[in-house]
Amino acid sequence: MCQTVFLLGFMGSGKSTLGKKLANRLKLPFLDTDKEIENKYGLTVSQFFEKYGEDKFRLEEKAIIRELDTSQPRVVAVGGGLPCFHKNITFMNEKGITIYLKRPAKELFQRLKQGKSKRPLITDLSDPELLSYIEEKLQERSVYYEQAQVIAGRDEQTVELLAGKVRSID
Ligand code: S3P
Repeated sequence: MCQTVFLLGFMGSGKSTLGKKLANRLKLPFLDTDKEIENKYGLTVSQFFEKYGEDKFRLEEKAIIRELDTSQPRVVAVGGGLPCFHKNITFMNEKGITIYLKRPAKELFQRLKQGKSKRPLITDLSDPELLSYIEEKLQERSVYYEQAQVIAGRDEQTVELLAGKVRSID
């Protein structure tokens, strides 16, 4: 096992939860790009957006994955928007294994209704606005997400299946 595994997908698709389990199973360290930014600045993602804005957040995301030491294999959960900016999806495809955790908009909506406050892009949306937002953004972002080397639908999003997939590619 000598590659970086990048987990991508829309907000609420379960990247961090599954990423930690996958890292455990593969005996690799786990890194979460949102957490890296939070730790570096001592701010939550929402506070960061408020203080510095989205453009700077995207630059920070870009820097984190560019500065990763890829000689150290690990599992990386990337923020939902990261693959869609600064040619990050191309970079991740060149440097490691990319896995898209794909979920339909309605499911993401059910999962995100409770988690709005931590996510600055959706914090102020009512439930109907949230559903429309997810549908639109998901369509826009799918062009990037679907460039991942592995596209895992809901039934394939288990640690066992993903660990097997990673081992077969690596
Ligand atoms: C974002 C997703 C968030 C976080 C930020 C922006 C996005 O990460 O990076 O709120 O643009 O989709 P999660 O996907 O881990 O929620």
